Amino acid sequence: MNQKRKIVLFIATSLDGYIATKNNSLDWLFDVEGDGDNGFSAFYQTVDTILMGRRTYDWIMNQELDSFPYEGKACYVFTQSVVNDTKYVKFINEDMTDFLDRLKSRSGKNIWIAGGGGLINSIIKTKQVDEIILTIAPTILGGGISLFREGDYHLNLELKQMKRYNQFAELYYMVKDV
Ligand SMILES: NC(=O)c1ccc[n+]([C@@H]2O[C@H](COP(=O)([O-])OP(=O)(O)OC[C@H]3O[C@@H](n4cnc5c(N)ncnc54)[C@H](OP(=O)(O)O)[C@@H]3O)[C@@H](O)[C@H]2O)c1
Repeated sequence: MNQKRKIVLFIATSLDGYIATKNNSLDWLFDVEGDGDNGFSAFYQTVDTILMGRRTYDWIMNQELDSFPYEGKACYVFTQSVVNDTKYVKFINEDMTDFLDRLKSRSGKNIWIAGGGGLINSIIKTKQVDEIILTIAPTILGGGISLFREGDYHLNLELKQMKRYNQFAELYYMVKDV
């Protein structure tokens, strides 16, 4: 039987629910002693499509990388501006529910919501997220860019698995039907 592809949020967060500091630093995350790549490559193999917000895309493009890190996957960047597509990404400005419905109706591997908080908030409101995998750093930031925002939604989750990567704790949830 063909299983429908899933939309999965996989992201690292501080214990108090921030994904970056106010000035977009992730240094606090890279300073944590993990184990290997903390499950990233195993997860990465399960997806062929990546969704990100424009600010996360800008953050990636500001890093001194030799090549685009998600080459070979379909990468969609959400923005309300009109931006020309590149060799690696397509810029999207359309109704989120319709877009996700279309993606889900195609066959393929899972779809990764890479972040950041603004995009997560937009997608979570559509109630189309199937799984949430949080990698929690042993850090309390006290402020920054929030993982989840206040909004008109309520999701019930089921905890499927917990893993430890040295100082990181990974919580794996399925989103229950609402
Ligand atoms: N801890 C982690 O694992 C992790 C992972 C990813 C990102 N981050 C960090 O998170 C930060 C960025 O997060 P953020 O919350 O500030 O921004 P973001 O979610 O990456 O991007 C927000 C932007 O996405 C666009 N957008 C969002 N929803 C949209 C919709 N429904 N339709 C069209 N466009 C939409 C808008 O772009 P326009 O303004 O262009 O219209 C919006 O300003 C960065 O510092 C990044 O490093 C951390």
